[in-house]
Amino acid sequence: MSGEALRAEGVRKVYDRRGAPTVVALDNVSLLARPGERVALLGRNGAGKTTFLKIASTLLKPSAGTIEVFGHDADADPSAVRPLIAVVPQEGKPFFHLTPREQIYTYLLARGFSRREAKERTGEALAQMALEEVADRLSITLSGGQRQRTMVATVIATEAPLLFLDEPTIGMDPFARRSVWDSLRRLTKKGSTILLTTHYLDEAEALSDRLYIVERGRVLVDGTAESLKREVGGSVRVSIAGGADLKAAFATFGDSFADGGGLHVITTPERIHEVLEVAVREHRTATIGPVTLEEAFLRVVGRSIDEES
Ligand SMILES: Nc1ncnc2c1ncn2[C@@H]1O[C@H](COP(=O)(O)OP(=O)(O)O)[C@@H](O)[C@H]1O
Ligand SMILES: [Mg+2]
Repeated sequence: MSGEALRAEGVRKVYDRRGAPTVVALDNVSLLARPGERVALLGRNGAGKTTFLKIASTLLKPSAGTIEVFGHDADADPSAVRPLIAVVPQEGKPFFHLTPREQIYTYLLARGFSRREAKERTGEALAQMALEEVADRLSITLSGGQRQRTMVATVIATEAPLLFLDEPTIGMDPFARRSVWDSLRRLTKKGSTILLTTHYLDEAEALSDRLYIVERGRVLVDGTAESLKREVGGSVRVSIAGGADLKAAFATFGDSFADGGGLHVITTPERIHEVLEVAVREHRTATIGPVTLEEAFLRVVGRSIDEES
């Protein structure tokens, strides 16, 4: 039995429905999540993230490769895996005829918790997701963000050893997103492992210990947010106002790109003053900021798209 929470080796998934064109959704994906880690899966729409989560959570069979959850093969032994996991599916919705409180409580009972334990955990999860005010209303009457919070609350209440969350914060306001982050951090502190997908790169940066970027069914890069930024040449962005025509003048400092008339130079903290000297010489104003994970993501995935075409 492996000591990893999740170990995927060479996972391939081909959707091959009669009459429909064949889609290779995953191609040789290997991925690891250690106990207590929060791992983010990033990638464009259609990259294969949901397919991976479905296979890892025993809802779909791989065409090739293996996924082990705490040493149990998800394909060969799904009944050993299911008690160890909980899933927030992409675009999942709460039962409209149940209230959030009823849904969470019932789900916990179905997973084998005692009534007392289920009741206690339900109360905690409702509080953590700030759902108390709407806890006793039918879910059909809830807003989109409140429904999504109900889905997340249902799953975090399980405190399952491995949680899969597919775009868990979609449609949530900034306060609700932060409640989710806090809850997930609390869970991993208690020992759970988390694999999530998100299109909010600030979320991935705030939340994940490590991340994988998936593009066209393959892992493009894996590492930390910091290592990804290093991959694009530095952690600092110097933006030169109206500098789009000055790319050549800044060529020696690292990667640069024009955006909205300005020029953004990606560089290291040590070289900021040199970049500023050139900006002054060219009579331009410059502002300094950190390279965001979103910028790094756009550069890394953009490079891959260019290479393919
Ligand atoms: N049931 C299915 N049948 C055929 N193709 C599918 C099916 N589900 C997903 N796909 C295709 O597989 C690819 C990966 O989809 P998905 O895993 O949902 O990506 P992501 O979650 O990263 O947006 C896409 O090209 C998608 O159209
Ligand atoms: Mg998806």
